[in-house]
Amino acid sequence: AIDPNFDQNRERVGEENGVTVWGPVDEPEQLGIHGTHVAVDYDICIADGACLENCPVDVFTWVDTPSHPASEEKVEPTRESQCIDCMLCVDICPVDAIDVDGS
Ligand code: SF4
Ligand code: F3S
Repeated sequence: AIDPNFDQNRERVGEENGVTVWGPVDEPEQLGIHGTHVAVDYDICIADGACLENCPVDVFTWVDTPSHPASEEKVEPTRESQCIDCMLCVDICPVDAIDVDGS
């Protein structure tokens, strides 16, 4: 599961699609955690899609991650500032890849 203390245990290594990336990153196999208030561990995500399909405020966007061992697509929390902290995505993700502040 995603480390809920990732913001203390990892370093910011950059930004993609307007979203902070927390390392370590070693593309294409290791992609780190994307987002801060709504955070997705790209190395755990298997592109299930339930988060994106069910988020009431459409926080997530699909992005391609070719050659990543877990899945070749991931969800970017591009509209994380719109999140209403309903926790649906945290509860629904089958691999516990998402952390929302306060969860
Ligand atoms: Fe969307 Fe709710 Fe997840 Fe926030 S907590 S990203 S509003 S599903
Ligand atoms: Fe990935 Fe979990 Fe969403 S596997 S696509 S973060 S439901």
